[in-house]
Amino acid sequence: MSQLALYKTGAALPVRCLDNHFFENYLETSDEWIRERTGIETRYHAREESLLELSLQAAKAAVAELTQAEVDRIELVIVASMSSEETMPAIAPLLQAELGLSHSVLAFDLNAACSGYLYALEIARHYLTKEGLALILGAEKLSSLLDLSDRNTAVLFGDAAAANLWGLNTGGQSSFQAYCESSPDLLFAPKNGPIQMSGRAVFHFAVTNLRQEIEKNLAKVEMKASDIDLYILHQANLRILKSTAKQLKLDFTKFAHNLEHYGNTSAASIPLLIHELNQQGQLEGKKNLLIAGFGAGLTAGNLILKGHQKYVAQ
Ligand code: ACO
Repeated sequence: MSQLALYKTGAALPVRCLDNHFFENYLETSDEWIRERTGIETRYHAREESLLELSLQAAKAAVAELTQAEVDRIELVIVASMSSEETMPAIAPLLQAELGLSHSVLAFDLNAACSGYLYALEIARHYLTKEGLALILGAEKLSSLLDLSDRNTAVLFGDAAAANLWGLNTGGQSSFQAYCESSPDLLFAPKNGPIQMSGRAVFHFAVTNLRQEIEKNLAKVEMKASDIDLYILHQANLRILKSTAKQLKLDFTKFAHNLEHYGNTSAASIPLLIHELNQQGQLEGKKNLLIAGFGAGLTAGNLILKGHQKYVAQ
C-alpha cells in the first residue's frame, strides 16, 4: 500500500500586513470584536504583487533544495485558487518553465473555494505514480474580491500563496470523505467580487459538518477521534476550530492554527499551515493526520493520513 508523504514546503506573503486597528479607523468595528469573534489579529493584502508572483515565489521555495533529477519527477502541479486575475491561462502551467519542470507535467488550476487545496491533494493521492512528486499550491488574492466597507467580510480574509510537495511512501493507510451541498446564496462572489456571506449560517454549517464528516471518515479506517495526532483544518475562525475540538471531545492542543496571523486565506490556508508546521518541526512524530476543508459551494471534506511519515528521497 502507498501513502501520501510530505516532502518540501514553501510560502509567500504580500509585504502589506494589516492589523485590526486598520479597520477600526474607518469601520464600526473593534480590535476586541474581531479577536473575540474570529481569533484574527493580522492579515496580508497584496498591492503590487500579482497572484502569479506569489504562487511562483511559494513554489520556488518548495523546490529550492531539489536536484534537477527530483524536479524531473514532478508529474502533477495543481494551483487551488478562486481569485486568479486571469481567466486564462491558469497559473499552474505558467510555473512549468519558471521551475524547469518536464513537459510531461499535468498542470492546472482548481476552484473549490476553501476546499480547493484538499481536493487537489485528493487528486494527487490517486494520480501520483510510485516515483512521482506532486506540487500542490493554494494561492489567493482575496483582497481583490473584498468590499472593504463591509465589516461582515472585510476583516476576515487575507492573501497568501503556499506550496507543498508530496510524494508516495509505502505503508500506512489513507481515507477521504467528500461532502457537497449546492448553496449559491450562503457564500458567493461575482467574477470581480465582492465576497458576500451569511456568516452565522456558514458558521453553523462548518461546526455541524466538520464533526459529522470527520466521524464518518474515522469510522471507515476504524479510528477514534483521539487516535489522530494532529488536526489540520481550514483556518476560517478560531471558534470553529474550538467548537469542533469540543464536539469531538478532544483537547484543543491537537488542533493546529495560525489564522491569528493571516486571517482566512481560503485555499491557501491549509498549505500555509502545513508549511509552518513543517518549518517548526511540528509534524515530527505525528503519525496520524487529519486534513479538513470547507467553504463555498458548499464544499467540504476531510482526508485521514494514517501512519504518515515524511517523504524520503529515493
Ligand atoms: N465588527 C463588529 N461587529 C460586526 C462585525 C465586525 N467586523 N461583523 C459583524 N458584526 C456584527 C453583525 O452586524 C451583528 O450585528 P447585529 O446583531 O446588530 O445584526 C453582530 O456583529 C453579530 O453578527 P453575527 O454574524 O451573528 O456574528 P458571529 O458571532 O456569527 O460572527 C463571523 C460573525 C465571524 C462572520 C462568523 O459568523 C463566522 O466566522 N462565520 C463563518 C465564516 C466562515 O467560516 N467562512 C468559511 C468559508 S470562507 C470561504 O469559503 C471563502
